[in-house]
Amino acid sequence: MSAAPAPLPDPPGPAPSEAAPTPEQAENPLALLMALGERYGELVRVPSPYGQSYLYNHPSFVRHFFHSHNYERTKLLKIALGDGTLSSDGAVWREQRRIVQPAFQPDKVRGFGALMVDEARAAADRWSAAGAANVDLDEEMMRLTLLIAVRALFSADVSEDVEEISQALTLVIRDLGILTSTLFAVPVSFDPQRNRRLRQALGALDAVVFRIIEARRKAPGSRGDLLDMLLLARDPETGAALDDKRLRDEVVTMLVAGHETTATSLSWAWALLALHPAQEARFHAELATLEGRPPSVDDLPDLVYTRGVLQESMRLYPPVWTIARRVKEDEVLGGYRVRGDSAAFVCPFMLHRHPGFWPEPERFDPTRFDEVRGPTIDRYAYVPFARGPHMCAGHHFATQEGTLILAALGQRFSFQLMQDALPEPWPLVTLRMKGGLPMRLQPRATAATRSP
Ligand code: HEM
Repeated sequence: MSAAPAPLPDPPGPAPSEAAPTPEQAENPLALLMALGERYGELVRVPSPYGQSYLYNHPSFVRHFFHSHNYERTKLLKIALGDGTLSSDGAVWREQRRIVQPAFQPDKVRGFGALMVDEARAAADRWSAAGAANVDLDEEMMRLTLLIAVRALFSADVSEDVEEISQALTLVIRDLGILTSTLFAVPVSFDPQRNRRLRQALGALDAVVFRIIEARRKAPGSRGDLLDMLLLARDPETGAALDDKRLRDEVVTMLVAGHETTATSLSWAWALLALHPAQEARFHAELATLEGRPPSVDDLPDLVYTRGVLQESMRLYPPVWTIARRVKEDEVLGGYRVRGDSAAFVCPFMLHRHPGFWPEPERFDPTRFDEVRGPTIDRYAYVPFARGPHMCAGHHFATQEGTLILAALGQRFSFQLMQDALPEPWPLVTLRMKGGLPMRLQPRATAATRSP
């Protein structure tokens, strides 16, 4: 009789007694994850009071994470986003994604280019008119990308509602950030006040969104914005349309998923440019080829370095710094046993610095993404928008928006940090900056003042 095969080992990781994060680590989960990776390697077991979790830090494991049917979404975002594309899974997600996808095709997204540039230039005009010497660029990027998201979704229907949407959204995102900490075994006390605040903020957001949807149902197709596209969209397989509840979930998803992420990527890009004069000079040299006229979507194929600045900033400071899934059943990965009913994470912040896939990982080098070097990057070593079926529906939108904003504002100003180091990362739902991004504005001599 042959002996039973030896059971597969668990991946390496700290003993349960060592696994509880210290208060400093709880404050700084990025440092905690980096330390775990450094100590235990590319597949780490992290015990937590909520069960077993695993951290994946090799492209082959990351590929499996994004494609395997044994992984499903965690329920956390459902609180705010219901059955929207970002928070659903299985059949509901498939139907929702099929309906939403056409609105995000590159040809549709191009139609939003002019409003992206207009809003960026309006912000620059506002700073100039106020004679502003300093701005909190992080706050300004949040405001700018929210205005763009709201206009792309609802056209001009809501200018008077922007403030209300903005306030409610800020609260929702902050409170979701606190709840996200539970994923890393950071104890979050049950706080009835916070829950009440979150409910109120969601209620306020829903009231505005339902009002807009109701008004638009009377004249669908009149605006050509994202809301029209969502209203007119039909599932290509079943012919189904979105009902009001699904529409609300999708609209709130677009607002939550679409604005803070893009703003965060821009804030890091400005901070990195300010600290790297040679890269900033090359960025300005590319903008000079526009000869003073504002950028448009037709310029995008030529703005390779500018797009590289955005891509490289998202490598070093990925707005979505961690992506979580639930592992359903036991499985084997890399010769280890991964247990079912556990949590798994990919941390793009860590993966994007893997020295095996990124030469000089800490160096800010936007040419990594140019026509020659870009195609050699391992797809699963660079995942700011995730990969696989759940890959960000808005990635064309975000890349176009980020590139056009960098170009439109970079033509007008050079931004200088008030300190001589990058701000400290602040990992909430997205990778924010502690203390914001106060910057000095320096109007550029070659400022784009000519109209197109
Ligand atoms: C720099 C900006 C952005 C970043 C870094 C980003 C990142 C991501 C990531 C990592 C995911 C996958 C989440 C997961 O797998 O659980 C995702 C999903 C998604 N994002 Fe984005 N995103 C950005 C901008 C946008 C924009 C502008 C929109 C819409 C206007 C958007 C809409 C979505 C949607 C709908 C999903 C869900 C996709 C699905 O599960 O089918 N995102 N995004």
